[in-house]
This record gives sequence, structure tokens and C-alpha cells, in this order.
Amino acid sequence: MFAKIKEKLVSTHFVTNYKKMWPYIKPYWGRGLTSVLITIPIGAMDAVIAWSLKPYMDVVMVEKSTSFVGYIPLLIIIFSCLQSLLNYAATYLNVWVGRKIANDVKMVLFDRLMQSEATFFDKMTSGQIVFRYNSDVDSACNGLLSNLKLFTTRVFSSLSLIAVLFYNSWQLAIIAVVILFCALYPLTTVRRKIKAIMDKTIFSGAAVISHFNETFNGNRIIASYNLYDYQGKRFRETLKSVFKLGIKMTQRTGMMSPLMHFIVSLGIAAVIWLGNYLIVNHQITPGNFVSFITALIMLYNPIKSIGNNFNSVQLAFLAMERVFNLMERLPAVRNCGNPVKLKNVSGIIEYKNVCFEYLKNKPVLKNVNLKINVGETVAFVGNSGGGKTTMVNLLPRFYDVTSGEILINGKNIKNYDLFSLRDNIAIVFQDNFLFAGTIRDNILLGKENASKEEIEHAVEAACLKEFVDSLEKGWDTQIGERGVLLSGGQKQRIAIARAFIKNAPIVILDEATSALDNKAEAVVQKAIDNLMKDRTVFIVAHRLSTVRNADKIVVVNYGEIVEEGTHEELLAKENSVYASLYNSQLR
Ligand SMILES: Nc1ncnc2c1ncn2[C@@H]1O[C@H](COP(=O)(O)OP(=O)(O)O)[C@@H](O)[C@H]1O
Ligand SMILES: [Mg+2]
Repeated sequence: MFAKIKEKLVSTHFVTNYKKMWPYIKPYWGRGLTSVLITIPIGAMDAVIAWSLKPYMDVVMVEKSTSFVGYIPLLIIIFSCLQSLLNYAATYLNVWVGRKIANDVKMVLFDRLMQSEATFFDKMTSGQIVFRYNSDVDSACNGLLSNLKLFTTRVFSSLSLIAVLFYNSWQLAIIAVVILFCALYPLTTVRRKIKAIMDKTIFSGAAVISHFNETFNGNRIIASYNLYDYQGKRFRETLKSVFKLGIKMTQRTGMMSPLMHFIVSLGIAAVIWLGNYLIVNHQITPGNFVSFITALIMLYNPIKSIGNNFNSVQLAFLAMERVFNLMERLPAVRNCGNPVKLKNVSGIIEYKNVCFEYLKNKPVLKNVNLKINVGETVAFVGNSGGGKTTMVNLLPRFYDVTSGEILINGKNIKNYDLFSLRDNIAIVFQDNFLFAGTIRDNILLGKENASKEEIEHAVEAACLKEFVDSLEKGWDTQIGERGVLLSGGQKQRIAIARAFIKNAPIVILDEATSALDNKAEAVVQKAIDNLMKDRTVFIVAHRLSTVRNADKIVVVNYGEIVEEGTHEELLAKENSVYASLYNSQLR
């Protein structure tokens, strides 16, 4: 049985996770260790109280003498006070160290999560990420430490009480200890039993958070489509499944408790029976027996909760495992071994036999070949879902090609340092993410240390000047979370100013005006024209009027380039797909 328990403890999880945890524990190990060591006297003091009952009983109660043991009541008070003071110190240290470690882990984890590739965010819901980030790190750090503290307190309390048992009567003690270990045995199977449920619980816990985020972000859609019932129903179902899992978990772990109680009561019965016999035969004194029984009863509490504690420590280890899984995954899109900096884009940009799929065996781009000269504007048109956005997303390596390669200056983009590659690309999407803060904050995201003149220039080029001047606080105006206080055209122009100030040689415009009405579009188009000057531009647009001046128009249908050429060339072509698109729009 011992071997089994040991095996559990030394199982891979315990050792490897502790090794990984060490760098985070290291800065605080002194205090952490102190907080755990203090628990040894705290635990042991329980035993002193039980032990002192023997002389007290035998000397005061039986011999009716009031020698030194008369001070025992006073000593008990002093001991209890000392014990609770130490407890306070241990708790304080424990929480302090736990929080520190949790914060450090969270900081590292945040960086790792942030740099994950787009596919990661496609697959994980926001709830899953938040849940892992918060609950798992907390239970892996704070939870682990505080449970470890309780665990050691209880272990030492138990050990010293067991010593008192043996001091009083070894025969009785053997019975008691054997029974106690029988009672503890079921605990060793807990981990296996709860792991599966725990994983599911996390999944549904995460679903709750995702649901909240969705409800919050999509509240306008919910209102406009009257989706209250629908959302409410889905939420209730999620909550129901969380409830069911919680109950299942309690069933599995909770069964331990009655089982243990039963075994322990057997032990107490056996001890009292044998104790009577030993007293009658003068093998032990009544003091021994009282002290023994007291120690045994006091033992019941720590032993009983060691069970729960052990569960919690196990849960903390499972959480730690999940945290490290997340922490250790390398982003799929990352630098190669010896990346070079992309200094300036001077040669051609080439897509060479590029194939791409988001999901296995669902090809989205099929053997695409394309060359763009520096300074050219290339426009992508074609059916919706055809792969235009995908084409341009491959350039900043939001995703990596499945096969083939993309070259800049004759070099595969995978060989460039990712930061430097992205430094050379400014992007304006259809729906741009603005951060809570001022207009200026949002523009400065494009270039942190931009001068006042540069900001002014960007504001002007983005056709924002008139708007900014009309605001009481100018560009120091708060725009609300995600820019909710702005119109679509205003948001778009801030995004353009942000791209402008970045001053990158490559510009990607993905349906940048599609969400706007004609009037707003005209202004934004002017801003875009400014942004496009003297740069290599990739433009995706479904309004063909905006692409006719491009140096090259590429028609992408169902993941393939079906036509390529200037507006005039494509119109002049026989059976031209572009021409039919163009004509249908003119009408
Ligand atoms: N993140 C994604 N995960 C899985 N499939 C995607 C993802 N983004 C786009 N797709 C799929 O890839 C195809 C091409 O999409 P996209 O490049 O956005 O088309 P377009 O911009 O031409 O409208 C579509 O069928 C779309 O459903
Ligand atoms: Mg698109």
C-alpha cells in the first residue's frame, strides 16, 4: 500500500510538474518553505495538549495531588494562543507566496497566449482561454500552496498524535493505526476517478464564460433578433451540465467520506473494548487511556480532512498540468532557427505553388502562383469565400502555407524574423479592432514614439482632421470600448491613420470600405488613396469600382486564380469572368 501511495506521489505529474514549477518558486522559496515549516509546530501542538492529559489525570484526578501539573490549564491557554499566532503567520506567508507565484506565472502565460498563432484562437473559445488563465493558474499556485500547508499541518498533527497514542499504549496504538491506514487507502484512487470529470468541468466552465462574452459582445444582435429566449435557453443548458458534473464529482469524491467514517468507528470500538481490558489488568493507567482516547478523537479531524486536502492537492496538480500544457506549446507560426531581419522590401513578392487549408483535407487555396512587383497595387476579386482574405493573411504569416512558399526579395518569408516581417506590413480590415482609450492612443499603436507632427500628418492623410477638430477634446477624446462611440467611417479612418503612421512598405486592405455607406465610403476611399501612395498594396474589394485602377487584378474563384491582368486587359478578354462580374455590378 505504501508503495502504491509513493508511486502516486512520484508519478510523472508530481515530479515533472514540480521541476517545471521550480523557476517560479525559486525567488520565493525561503518564505514558501517557512510557511510550510511553521506548520510542523502547529500540528505538533495538538499532541502536546492530548499528551498532557495523562499526567493531569493520573496526578490530579487519581492521586488528588496538586503538584506542577496544576498549571496545565494555563499551559493549554498559552499553547493555544501560540498555535493560532503561528497559524496566522503561516497563512499570511502562504498567501503572499502563492499570489506572487501566480502573478509571475500569469505574466509569462499571458505573453505566450498573446503570441499564439491565429489557428489557436480559431480553435479555442474565449471562455476556455480565460478559464485556463484564471482558475487554473490560481489553483495551481495559490491553491496548491495553501492546500500543501493544510496538508502538512494535518500530517504533522496526525504524526504527533500517533506518537501520543504509542506513548500511552502500543497495543491500542497498533490497532488504531492499522484501522486509520485502511481508512486512508481509498484516497489513493481519487486522482484517476476525478480526472475525466475535471476535464469536462473545465470545458463547461469555459462554455459559461464564452457564453457571457458572446452575450456581451453580441448584445445588439441579440436585441435586434430578439434572441433573449434562444441565448437564455442555451445558457441554462450550459449551467445544467455544469451542475450535473459538479454533482458527479461530489458523488465520486464524497463517497470516500462515509466509507472512512465507517472504518474509523470500527477502530474506535475496537480500541475501547481492548482498552477496558488493559485498564482492568493494570497494563495502562486511566490517564493513559484518557490521553489515548483524546488523541484518537483529535486525530479524527486531521485524518478526515487529509482526505479532502489530498483531493485538493491533486486538483491543483491537474491544474498545473493544464497550465504547463498551455505554456509549453510552441506557437505553430514562429521564427525559424536563424531568422534574418527583413530590412526593406525591394524585390518582388511571389506566391509559389501555394496551397492552404484551415482544416485538414479542406483545401482553401489550390496551387496559387502570383508575382507582384514592388510598388504595384494588386487587387483580388472573386466569389465570396473564394480565398481572397486567406491569400492576404498568409503574407504577414497569420497562418503558414500548407505547401508551397511565399517569397519576399527572393527569400521564403519563413526565414525572416516574424516581428520584422510584420513591421513591414500595415493592414486595414473591414472591421478593425480599436482599443478602449483615446483617438491618439489608437493611432499611436501604429508607431509608439511618433512625434506630434507625424500624428498630425496621419490624421490629415486619413481625412480625420475635420472630425478631430470638431471634438471638444480633439484626439484626446475617449472612443469607448472597441470604439463603440464612433461611426463605422470614423473607426475606419482611425484604423487608416494607425496604418499610415506605421509607414510600412506593404499595405493590405481587406474590404476596407465594404461595411460603409456610399458617402462614408467616398471619404474613406480618399484616405485609402493617401495610404496607398508609393507602396506595394494588396487590396481585396468586392466593389469593382474601387479596383479598376490597380496595376494588376487577380480573380480568385474557389481557391484558384482564374484570371490575372489589368482592368482593360481583363475586360477585353474573351469569356472573361472579370467582365461578367464587372458588368453585373454596373447594372
Ligand atoms: N479561420 C478559419 N477557419 C476555417 N475556415 C476558414 C477560416 N477562415 C476562412 N475559412 C474558410 O476559407 C474559405 C476562404 O475564406 P476567405 O479567404 O475568407 O474568403 P474570401 O475573403 O474570398 O471571402 C471559406 O470557405 C471560409 O469558410
Ligand atoms: Mg474576405
